[in-house]
Amino acid sequence: MTESQKTATLTVHGESYDLPVFSPTAGPDVIDIRKLYGQAGVFTYDPGFTSTASCDSTITFIDGDKGELLHRGYPIEQIASKSHFLELSYLLLYGELPSARDLENFETTITRHTMLHEQMQYFYRGFRRDAHPMAIMVGVVGAMSAFYHDSTDVADPRQREIASHRLIAKMPTIAAWAYKYHIGQPFVYPRNDLDYASNFLRMCFAVPAEDYEVNPILARAMDRIFMLQADHEQNASTSTVRLASSSGANPFACIAAGIACLWGPAHGGANQACLEMLEEIGSVDRIPEFIERAKDKDDPFRLMGFGHRVYKNFDPRATVMKQSADEVLDLLGIEDNPKLQVAKALEKQALEDPYFIEKKLFPNVDFYSGIVMEAMGFPTSMFTPIFALSRTVGWVSQWKEMIADPQNKIGRPRQLYLGATSRDYVDIENR
Ligand code: CMC
Repeated sequence: MTESQKTATLTVHGESYDLPVFSPTAGPDVIDIRKLYGQAGVFTYDPGFTSTASCDSTITFIDGDKGELLHRGYPIEQIASKSHFLELSYLLLYGELPSARDLENFETTITRHTMLHEQMQYFYRGFRRDAHPMAIMVGVVGAMSAFYHDSTDVADPRQREIASHRLIAKMPTIAAWAYKYHIGQPFVYPRNDLDYASNFLRMCFAVPAEDYEVNPILARAMDRIFMLQADHEQNASTSTVRLASSSGANPFACIAAGIACLWGPAHGGANQACLEMLEEIGSVDRIPEFIERAKDKDDPFRLMGFGHRVYKNFDPRATVMKQSADEVLDLLGIEDNPKLQVAKALEKQALEDPYFIEKKLFPNVDFYSGIVMEAMGFPTSMFTPIFALSRTVGWVSQWKEMIADPQNKIGRPRQLYLGATSRDYVDIENR
């Protein structure tokens, strides 16, 4: 970061302090408050980080008002139509689009790391069969640190690179095996002659008794889902990965922390929650009742798959995902699926409702991704694991960027303490 030429003046208790202001390449200026506590003895207060930049980054940029998402400067719409997931992964990890040769080398490396250590399948068998696949993923990804000791030294750039490759390569196998275990079918091993998305579909849907012929349209739709969920700057799970790794923890443990955070219904769990909501609504005539509930402040119900912290116009990922949904449903000939009918009518009615218009609440990527994945044959419990597999490259790229940054230091937020002040311990018989 270059020296700041601009300043902002803050007056605290009658004293003024000049704070440096940094201008990004895109987005709003940022006031540097790093020295504020030392100078003025005050903290800033921003639960939920609504006005706080937690780091500097060159990976992803979002303009929520314009509905713009750029990876290393390239718009997501162009990436989704012209590129594919492994090329995007290279771009996120290394900063530039690969040459044909670099891409081939990268694809070969990722393909050759897709198998899991054979001992890991016994680790799966320790879980109950009815465990949620996300519960298995948190455990198995964390356990990678016990299987791949030779890539846990975060101070070694080569080990960091190997860990990045292993995580991107093995995540489809880990997610597919979580699914296979959950439904009681044998694990299907990866195949090196298939592309990333086709390999994942086959590992999920093939059985030893009958192989699975991958439909290229479904493989393309799967690849698009991976691309659209690949990175989203400093969202909750990515910030979790950064905070966990700021202590120097190994990458597998940190990505497991990201998976745990992603699981929540306000974040990656929204796609599962959205499909469950469509099921609960059940029929088009019940939509107004649910829209009224979403608007009622005394009812905790929210329309899942609607709204976003950053996008206040439209979610560009949702636009691409909607096209994909149309393609897949057309291919599979299931336009009259009841959940889909409810989804289409709900989208229309919510977008015409003044509450949703005023609050700028639009369908987000999870609204459509759930519909596509349901049509592909995935159960709702697999939606969030697929999000985790897609987001792994984003987490890994942000982690790699952070570890290589000389300014990197342990993340340690402060607080506005509102508890009791110092008081004497009371013995139990006197309470
Ligand atoms: N249904 C009904 N009302 C809503 C919704 C919704 N889905 N989302 C926001 N609101 C209202 C909210 O009640 C609030 O109203 P008021 O100003 O009167 O109090 C206003 O809109 C602003 O909401 P907020 O909770 O302050 O906004 P936020 O930025 O903290 O939350 C969100 C963003 C995504 C958590 C939220 O919109 C939500 O819970 N949506 C449903 C869950 C969902 O689809 N999540 C996936 C997000 S995209 C994938 C990802 O990035 O993980």
